[in-house]
Amino acid sequence: MTDGSLDSGALARQTPVEAPAINTAGNLSSPSARSLLGIEKLERPEIEHLLRRAAHYKRLQIDRRDHLREFLSGKTIVNLFFEASTRTRTSFEIAAKRLGAHTVSIEAQGSSLSKGESLVDTLNTLAAMQPDAIVMRHAASGAPHFLSRFLPTPIINAGDGRHEHPTQALLDAMTILERKESLEGLRVAIIGDIMHSRVARSNVHLLSKFGVDIVLCGPATMLSSSLKEMVPGITLTNDMNEAVADADVVMMLRVQLERQKAPIFPKNEYFQFFGLSIDHLQLAKPDVLVMHPGPINRGRELSSEVADSKSSVILNQVQNGLSARMAVLERACGTEWPPRT
Ligand code: NCD
Repeated sequence: MTDGSLDSGALARQTPVEAPAINTAGNLSSPSARSLLGIEKLERPEIEHLLRRAAHYKRLQIDRRDHLREFLSGKTIVNLFFEASTRTRTSFEIAAKRLGAHTVSIEAQGSSLSKGESLVDTLNTLAAMQPDAIVMRHAASGAPHFLSRFLPTPIINAGDGRHEHPTQALLDAMTILERKESLEGLRVAIIGDIMHSRVARSNVHLLSKFGVDIVLCGPATMLSSSLKEMVPGITLTNDMNEAVADADVVMMLRVQLERQKAPIFPKNEYFQFFGLSIDHLQLAKPDVLVMHPGPINRGRELSSEVADSKSSVILNQVQNGLSARMAVLERACGTEWPPRT
């Protein structure tokens, strides 16, 4: 299935296992309220709470690793990945296991989807086995949102098409906040294939809720003006020097060839115009952070020198992914302690 091609008509004709629970903000008692589908609909206090819990789990991983097992002991998490993933899938799996949960990982090729079963039937089948949460990545924007209306199980969106990647934005915010006092007033440049990037979209939603000055930069064919409409005050530019100037954080994005219907920028010229080199960093703040969600393509989005420089926090992002996902899993399973009312 390609991006945007979710056949919601066909999906809607399927019989749901149980009537959908109504998603009431602030009430985490219903399964769908414990789903994490995107950053857009989250209120700032909810994000702050998740970031605090993530920091708590990071400390526990260092100080009390054995104690961690108690948090999701007896819980079952299903990881359902319909798109390629190295870090996100491994990260969810390790996070769940470290918290004591049982995990089951399913890839589309090995599932009954390859035998013609519909997505809703596959999800209903899995839900009938009563896992505590389903982590899902899908090429269709909106797939987890649609399914969460039908399933009695919380769904965590691990990336849906070009739409959202909420745990990436949480781990990115966590990585920045470990190095900067606050997000408020920071200048963050997000550079690359903005149009096809769920990472950009989730980050724009999160950062704009915290008063960040956001600059989006890329070739005209990869910039999305809809984001500018969604988030007033955002700057769009095709000029790398302008984007990087005075930046506190530079987030580089991979060119998402898998989501481009036809090539939209000459491959060999990309680095020359939109790749991050050491010279660019001279224009940014001296303590600039260079981020990338991975997988990185050295010599395409950024030079090896930049990727391995002291400004790069790319591996810290990977490390924080574990803690951010622990916080999200705990929320989905409703095991948070002390519980919230
Ligand atoms: C990102 C994704 O899948 O959206 N990667 C990730 O989750 N770490 C970005 C990308 O694939 O370029």
